[in-house]
Amino acid sequence: MSPYLDHIGIAVRPNSSLAKALAVLGIHPSHQEEVKSEKVSTEFFPLPLEQTKIELLHPLETDSVVAKFLEKTGRDGIHHLSFRVHDIRSAMGDFERAGFRLVYEEPRIGAHGCLVNFIHPQSTGGVLLEISQGGS
Ligand code: CO
Repeated sequence: MSPYLDHIGIAVRPNSSLAKALAVLGIHPSHQEEVKSEKVSTEFFPLPLEQTKIELLHPLETDSVVAKFLEKTGRDGIHHLSFRVHDIRSAMGDFERAGFRLVYEEPRIGAHGCLVNFIHPQSTGGVLLEISQGGS
């Protein structure tokens, strides 16, 4: 069996709105468990994975958003979670109606020529979410 990505673990604070943002995308937890040995409670959200990839982001300029992220954290780390949506404008409306803030008013062209937008990390509690549509 080839190695595969089983899950991405994200530490959340008590009032995290990340689960609510996932619910906007129709993603709900399938399993909850207290792991006493680690003194945490966990929730697992099964993802409709098709061709999930890891994206390594190498900043090209010191004033890029990723350069600033690396400078602030001082280590490599997860920068965003990107979700593929069928219709980016309708997803943007869903997030706005659910009280989330978008980074851009209009979708931009991202990697592979996708249309992308981001859910502002201030409204998700700190984790940057990307939504994307189309592209090659
Ligand atoms: Co991305």
